[in-house]
This record gives sequence, structure tokens and C-alpha cells, in this order.
Amino acid sequence: MGRLNLLLVWSLSLTLSLYYLHPISAQLSPNHYAKTCPNLESIVRQAVTKKFQQTFVTVPATLRLFFHDCFVQGCDASVLIASTGNNQAEKDHPDNLSLAGDGFDTVIKAKAAVDAIPQCRNKVSCADILALATRDVIALSGGPSYTVELGRFDGLVSRTSDVNGRLPQPTNNLNQLNSLFAANGLTQTDMIALSGNLRATVCKWVPFAFVHVLGSLLEWLIFDNVSSHLCYCKV
Ligand code: HEM
Repeated sequence: MGRLNLLLVWSLSLTLSLYYLHPISAQLSPNHYAKTCPNLESIVRQAVTKKFQQTFVTVPATLRLFFHDCFVQGCDASVLIASTGNNQAEKDHPDNLSLAGDGFDTVIKAKAAVDAIPQCRNKVSCADILALATRDVIALSGGPSYTVELGRFDGLVSRTSDVNGRLPQPTNNLNQLNSLFAANGLTQTDMIALSGNLRATVCKWVPFAFVHVLGSLLEWLIFDNVSSHLCYCKV
């Protein structure tokens, strides 16, 4: 699959995932903040672009953060909540400890930029900011852009126990991965396209031709036998 096609499927899948993952999806709308914060999308895009110019890690870090948020109790930004004395939050689950700090930082910076506009202050959910930032990093890394439905509520509950069994493991076989993605309304094709995100990480370091060969090899591996090396890439 060509890189552009892959990215297209990837973003379509993300849009689809939002549709399926959120129980109140019927109430989401691209114009949700038209009155309360009309310039929201450009404010977020500007903040994300600035962060992207500082480090390319912004791309894989934000994308993975979104994925890890959505697969646990929907796209409600609960992965951003900090642990307290008597509660261990999602972000401290072993599966989330390797989430890169630049993903969190991207949302924090975009939220600060939004809140710097008096009209927008505390009007926009972090869940929507993360969804918009994810769309923006995909576009900034050469992928397509797409419309983001808005109006998610931020989750108020975040527990490590809720993460158990909800995120894919490097040891999962194809059937396990398929069921996990199916539980989130995603098909095997979605799973394969979404897993192609690893190219976003690898692209920075190796020439594109090599990435293409590597990508094709991995796609073949995924169809045949999901190896423990799938997605096991680091910036
Ligand atoms: C198919 C099942 C998947 C498995 C088993 C898996 C597992 C992993 C593992 C083990 C890592 C390395 C973590 C580390 O640094 O220690 C990783 C990295 C990553 N995963 Fe996945 N993942 C999967 C699917 C996805 C999907 C669907 C996305 C997003 C759409 C995603 C986004 C990423 C990104 C961007 C990184 C690199 C993060 C960075 O280097 O900052 N993964 N994944």
C-alpha cells in the first residue's frame, strides 16, 4: 500500500474510531465550538505546528497518546489525568509508561493556547484538543487532513485497572488483535492500516525507500503472523 493511501486509510479509520468509540457520537459536530470558540481549529493547529517544528517526536507521540486514550473508556482524555494519593491513573499503567512526554506536552501547549483566548477559556475539552492535535500531526507529517467531529466530554475517572486488557500487546496474535480492535468498532483492515503508524516513527531516521520496503515486509508479516516486533519501534 502506498504511503499516501496508507495515511488516508489511517485517518479515515481514526475518524471512524471516533464515531464508534464514543457513546454520544450522535451529538458530536464539527461546528460544536462555532459560537464559544470560533477560531479553535486554527489556534490548535498553530500550537501543534510550533511543537512539531521543535521536534518530530510530536507526531508519533500525539498519535499514540490518542490511540491509548480512545481504547480505554473512549476518547475522553482520561489518559492525561494525573495519579493522586489514593488513585493510580491510566497514565501510570505499565502499558502507558512508554508514552512519550511530547504527546502530553502537545496537548498541554494547545490547551494553553486555547485558554489564552478569554472567550475560549475552559470551554474546550481536552478530549477535543487531543482529537484535533492528532488530525494536525497527521497532516503535518505528510498525511491527509480530515474533519474532526467535536463535543466530547472529558472523563473524570482514570484508573490503571481500566487499562488492563484494553490495549494491544506485542505478544498478541492476529485473532487477539482483531478482537481488541473489533471491540472498538474497527476491522482487521483498520487494524493493519492503523498499525502502519510505525512508519511515522521510522521515517525520520532511514531513507524512504528503506521504509517502504520495511513497511511492505511488516504488512506481509501482519497478514501472515503478527510478530512481537510489530510496532516495536522507537524514535
Ligand atoms: C496493532 C497493535 C499494536 C501493538 C501491539 C502496539 C504496541 C506498541 C509498542 C510495544 C510500542 C513501543 C513502546 C515503547 O517505546 O516501549 C509501540 C509504539 C508505538 N505505537 Fe503501537 N501498538 C499497536 C498499534 C498501534 C496503533 C493502532 C497506533 C496508533 C494509531 C500505535 C501508535 C504507536 C506509535 C506512534 C508508537 C511509537 C511511539 C514513540 O516512539 O513515541 N500503535 N506500540
